[in-house]
Amino acid sequence: MLLSAAVGRPRRFPVEYHDTMRSHYCGELNATHVGQEVELYGWVHRRRDHGGVIFIDLRDREGLVQVVFDPDLPQAFQRAEQARSEYVVHLSGQVRRRPAGTENPDLPTGEIEIQGTDLTILNRSETPPLQLDAHLHEVSEEVRLRYRYIDLRRPEMQRRIRIRAQVTRVLRNYLDEQGFIDIETPILTKATPEGARDYLVPSRVNPGQFYALPQSPQLFKQLLMMGGMDRYYQIARCFRDEDLRADRQPEFTQLDIEVSFLSEDELMGIMEVMIRRLFQEVLDEALPDPFPRMTYAESVRRFGSDRPDLRIPLELVDVGDLMREVDFKVFSAPANDPQGRIAALCLPQGGELSRKEIDDYARFVGIYGAKGLAYVKVNEWSSKGREGLQSPILKFLPDAAVTGIMERTGAQDGDLIFFGADRATVVNESMGALRTRLGQDRGLVAGGWQPLWVVDFPMFEWDEREHRWSALHHPFTSPKEDQIDRLEADPGACQSRAYDLVLNGSEIGGGSIRIHRSSLQSRVFRLLQIGEQEAEEKFGFLLRALKYGAPPHGGIAFGLDRLVMLMTGASSIRDVMAFPKTQTASCLLTSAPSQVDPAQLRELSLRVRQPQAEASAE
Ligand code: AMO
Ligand code: AMP
Repeated sequence: MLLSAAVGRPRRFPVEYHDTMRSHYCGELNATHVGQEVELYGWVHRRRDHGGVIFIDLRDREGLVQVVFDPDLPQAFQRAEQARSEYVVHLSGQVRRRPAGTENPDLPTGEIEIQGTDLTILNRSETPPLQLDAHLHEVSEEVRLRYRYIDLRRPEMQRRIRIRAQVTRVLRNYLDEQGFIDIETPILTKATPEGARDYLVPSRVNPGQFYALPQSPQLFKQLLMMGGMDRYYQIARCFRDEDLRADRQPEFTQLDIEVSFLSEDELMGIMEVMIRRLFQEVLDEALPDPFPRMTYAESVRRFGSDRPDLRIPLELVDVGDLMREVDFKVFSAPANDPQGRIAALCLPQGGELSRKEIDDYARFVGIYGAKGLAYVKVNEWSSKGREGLQSPILKFLPDAAVTGIMERTGAQDGDLIFFGADRATVVNESMGALRTRLGQDRGLVAGGWQPLWVVDFPMFEWDEREHRWSALHHPFTSPKEDQIDRLEADPGACQSRAYDLVLNGSEIGGGSIRIHRSSLQSRVFRLLQIGEQEAEEKFGFLLRALKYGAPPHGGIAFGLDRLVMLMTGASSIRDVMAFPKTQTASCLLTSAPSQVDPAQLRELSLRVRQPQAEASAE
């Protein structure tokens, strides 16, 4: 692991300021304490009887220490005998070196043990429903979430939660230093569109009316700029009712930031220093300086995605122009369609893939809408030319196309080239996902950290289903100044002043310079087919505020949970949240959401369509 043992480890507990008798935390004891009398508080991690001697591994938030009870001290011994897993105890003893040959090099306290002289059971525990010394993957997540308070005692969870606290501390310190003001914004509010459904809260005093929980503090932070705060930040809770994944939760935390009078370059510069400092202080890792930047168009062209994992050395290569004349409709159709794309992806040493593996990848791209996955195996191109290639589609490809493919992909003998041909959106999604998957499956993901700013986003994207333009970021994002003139004439060609920060293939932050003129904001609303009345109802307060001296402003929000997930090497966002929700947005610990008392509903002027009795009888 990247973390030094010192991460998040506090100095010795300041006994003099504390009214318990604790002298040390278990995990901080080592050979320098040999001979000292200690008072420890913690949980019984394990108890073993060994030929008349009792061993207790005592655990607290700093780690484990082994305590030995001899029958020579009968009272302490008898109490130790009664101790069971997860009992809470207070014990006294003396630190001594472990007998030669019994040291445990895997345990930070493994050189020493405590000769126990007294033990008090402060509380008992029923047999715990999960084994704390089992590996995380051996325990079902359901049980872990239901008994989260036990799961949190796990050293790995303690480490993650404390790194999270350390991350917020470093971020706060930096932002305070840079003159940012920490300001809270309302939770009971009006909808802020960020592309998800809202969580609604009924109002009792205003029957039939609802608050929305904020999908982000977006509009409030803009209003704070109009309120002259100049530099704002907040560790803000956001609520989004959307399909959940490993890196998405219905309520999550953003480091939310907004500034006035700065350009995107200036803001990105400040944010870069912050993220570099964060990684330096918490993980002792040096991130590149400066972070590389790439346009959205280049990112999509080379990686099929606007959040590419640059640790994977595979790239998509366009070959559509070589296929216009081929006698293979799968290729010739997208090659001649302005919305089409044909991308080749060369996998070094991919010739080793079996037929079954190739078929599995074809099924995999199918998830993203691809209708097939053509391929060419490069067996002996260097000596035999096209005779040295093997592919079901080779017969359709004229020599010029074959040579073009080989030149552009740089394929060598032993490699395999995959092809995606379809509408560009389908090719980008499917081949982008294939690139990541191949990188992982074939062990091609390099170590280290690869941050990337993605810039020059399109302002709008065409929504096929709704048949209208929608904002790629959010509707408050400013178009590039020099493109404002053609906003209505060619919305698809307009770029915005938005930027995303990507780290190892994960979007950890996104933001933009905002629209600060009421007239331009109204124009963008119109383009998004938000009618005059709807704009007034939903965003009238913003449009008005923009008329009273709104400064130029912009900002960004980082997904704090995602950031901590990456920094701790956790595979799920749930593992860096103390009390997360499941994929179905429920809390297994408290059983939320749950039915409410009919009287409460009446008070809120609400009626549940399906009678509660019926629902619960099912
Ligand atoms: P955006 O919607 O891109 O921007 O969100 C910013 C960052 O928040 C994280 N994130 C999430 N993390 C966990 N679970 C979720 N459901 C979730 N959704 C988003 C991501 C993302 O990069 N108001 C704008 C920011 C701005 O323009 O300043 C906003 O919210 O890491
Ligand atoms: P077919 O003629 O449908 O048997 O396809 C021949 C080859 O082209 C197979 O290897 C298919 O997987 C592949 N193929 C079909 N459709 C596509 C597509 N849209 N993109 C890439 N390859 C495809």
